[in-house]
Amino acid sequence: MKTVRVNASTPYDVLIGHSLLDSLGSRLKGSIGECKICIVTDDKVDDLYSVRAQEALQREGYSYNKFVIKNGEASKNTQNLIALLEFLAENAFTRSDCIVSLGGGVVGDLSGFAAGIYLRGIRFVQVPTTLLAAVDSSVGGKTAVDLAAGKNLAGVFHQPSLVLCDVETLDTLEENIFADGCAEVIKYAVINDRPMFERLQKGIKDNIEEVIFDCVTHKAEIVQSDEFDRGCRQLLNLGHTVGHAIEHCSNFEISHGSAVAIGTTIVMKMACSLGLCDENDYLETVKLLKANALPTKCNFNAEELARVAGADKKRSGATITLVVPHGIGNCKLMAIPYSELCTYIEKGL
Ligand SMILES: NC(=O)c1ccc[n+]([C@@H]2O[C@H](COP(=O)([O-])OP(=O)(O)OC[C@H]3O[C@@H](n4cnc5c(N)ncnc54)[C@H](O)[C@@H]3O)[C@@H](O)[C@H]2O)c1
Repeated sequence: MKTVRVNASTPYDVLIGHSLLDSLGSRLKGSIGECKICIVTDDKVDDLYSVRAQEALQREGYSYNKFVIKNGEASKNTQNLIALLEFLAENAFTRSDCIVSLGGGVVGDLSGFAAGIYLRGIRFVQVPTTLLAAVDSSVGGKTAVDLAAGKNLAGVFHQPSLVLCDVETLDTLEENIFADGCAEVIKYAVINDRPMFERLQKGIKDNIEEVIFDCVTHKAEIVQSDEFDRGCRQLLNLGHTVGHAIEHCSNFEISHGSAVAIGTTIVMKMACSLGLCDENDYLETVKLLKANALPTKCNFNAEELARVAGADKKRSGATITLVVPHGIGNCKLMAIPYSELCTYIEKGL
């Protein structure tokens, strides 16, 4: 088992290893102590892993309730948020009790938000079961639900008390969902770790524990220096500004991971044409994305993408901040006038 300590405003450990789900109860005893637990999960993960989680809690004498949402992004909404808050209240959860978020980023974001606002904040423990959740959403304390106007528009910063990542749960992921997570994995290496990029070239699945450890270590470092997303945490948005635009333009038929992969490719090619990035680094990145079943091209034009990207949260007034690779392992933030975004994207297509 590997451990990463996240020294955020509330410090916590991220445990990464095999069969950790079966030690959920004893790990909770060691970190949060005695309390009542609300397991929050989705219907797919419920069928696969709830029994093991429940048995692990029972063995340590924990009493629990369970709240199950339908799987998929559409469930990350205000109705489910309110329903979960009401469920916690009906079942008399108090400020000393705890939520266990068992699932992917949708479950983690929704239940983390509920934990952040129920009784002005109760503890929660993340048990990520997708690669994306393991390397990204379960760590760092960003929680959210989607609004009709867009994704992640309501949320709070609320750090978990513990993250327990049982890598064996990733074995049941559908290939495309695993690939989505690979886009985020490759993102970390391109942002600031060339040696990690070279390790990823040897295969992600076969070295999954080390890969997750590397990603979480990077995420922890970034969160520690910019917990509230005002500076270097923005580097984690590599490929995301154009990626979000691609997701929108495709009516969300192109998944988040695929869109980030294409977005990363576009911004890297753009950096090459500006003379900021070596073309070999771009070609190596395209090769690694493709090797992990990710697309690197889309059919949308620069005008469409720039129009949608202009509505992105990362836009601030007349400028928009892009994460620009100056090579694998070396990304920098670059604020450009929004009026020039289309020209920049054009260079990357
Ligand atoms: N909070 C953050 O910092 C942050 C960062 C990145 C992404 N996100 C959010 O994360 C969400 C995406 O997360 P996701 O990709 O995990 O999606 P998800 O939670 O929707 O999971 C994807 C699918 O995989 C299924 N699944 C989960 N675990 C499984 C397993 N072990 N075996 C088989 N199937 C399993 C789920 O039921 C679902 O159908 C988005 O809402 C995004 O906004 C948040």
